[in-house]
Amino acid sequence: HAGEVTVNGEIIKKTDHKINGTEQVLLNKQQILTQSVRYLMLNKPVGYVSANHDSENPTVIDLLDEINKSSLQIVGRLDKDTTGLVLITDDGEWNHKITAPASKCKKTYFVTLADPISQETVALFNQGVLLDGEKKLTAPAELELVNSYQARLTISEGKYHQVKRMFAAAGNKVIALHREKIGNLLLDSTLASGQYRSLTHQEVQGIFND
Ligand code: URA
Repeated sequence: HAGEVTVNGEIIKKTDHKINGTEQVLLNKQQILTQSVRYLMLNKPVGYVSANHDSENPTVIDLLDEINKSSLQIVGRLDKDTTGLVLITDDGEWNHKITAPASKCKKTYFVTLADPISQETVALFNQGVLLDGEKKLTAPAELELVNSYQARLTISEGKYHQVKRMFAAAGNKVIALHREKIGNLLLDSTLASGQYRSLTHQEVQGIFND
């Protein structure tokens, strides 16, 4: 009642004021609760961009019912027309550990192609392929055919439009792209397109282990 408590900078005098743990809570300007850090997995729909703000398109952040959205970071980007697993956090260090090229964190995509996938493509991706505009071959990638037009591709890099450019280099065209897995973490199959949930402590820690 003396105005000593602030929540996100606002003086709170109501004793039943609810918080969810993501706020900054100060007593006499001293932090008394550390922000509990968020780790979210989202099933991204087509048409949403992987950005905090966009003047033309809805963003993956728009899909979240969260406060303090400005402190959320998207862990690696998916194209507007790509669906599937997107991680969102306010832990910059965790984000960096997943996305830093040196981490070689694996990402698995379910890919649908315009033309039948040749066996040579499996060998080509395994050896590394020269993408348009690049000087170095891509790192070895694992291509597992599901049927003539669909495959799972696991890559350990994150070059711009990498999957689409790899198939373009093999003379094919990606018509649908869905990310299923990052590191050890699979997209939760119970999440409908556009839904998200918090990761468990085990998922947050276990994403790096092979
Ligand atoms: N590779 C692509 O081409 N697009 C994505 O969204 C992700 C990987």
